[in-house]
Amino acid sequence: MSQNIDEGPKDPWIKINFDNSLLSGIPHIDEEHKKLYQLAADILRAYLNNPRDKNIEEFLLELRTTLSEHFEHEEVEMAQRGFPEFIEHQESHSTLMTHFLRLHASYTHNLMSFSDLYTFLTKEVIQDHIIKYDLIFHQFLDQKA
Ligand SMILES: [Fe+2]
Ligand SMILES: [Fe+2]
Repeated sequence: MSQNIDEGPKDPWIKINFDNSLLSGIPHIDEEHKKLYQLAADILRAYLNNPRDKNIEEFLLELRTTLSEHFEHEEVEMAQRGFPEFIEHQESHSTLMTHFLRLHASYTHNLMSFSDLYTFLTKEVIQDHIIKYDLIFHQFLDQKA
């Protein structure tokens, strides 16, 4: 029997466990990554519990602030430390913010599905960006150390 895609997986937060291999060694950057993991888990839990939960809007606003501040802080660190892929990384942050704003607008218009939310948080932000793309910066920091 096929599963309705909007039901999503039963335990979406199972992948949302921050582990120490993701630490960059820059304390405020690491705290922000942990906060993004926590927010992702909180938003998905709230949505699964009730897609019209009033807390979701607050979580999305908090996510917007956290993402935008984090990107700015990370870019400052990259620029100051001479990270050679700074421009490409900055473009990736900008793309993520555009996708977030699109997602938020779709939520506001009652058009956001669970799979849209799940894919943005776990794939675009966590898997593809924090785990894979930020890792390149962390490896650069390790080489410099
Ligand atoms: Fe990051
Ligand atoms: Fe980043």
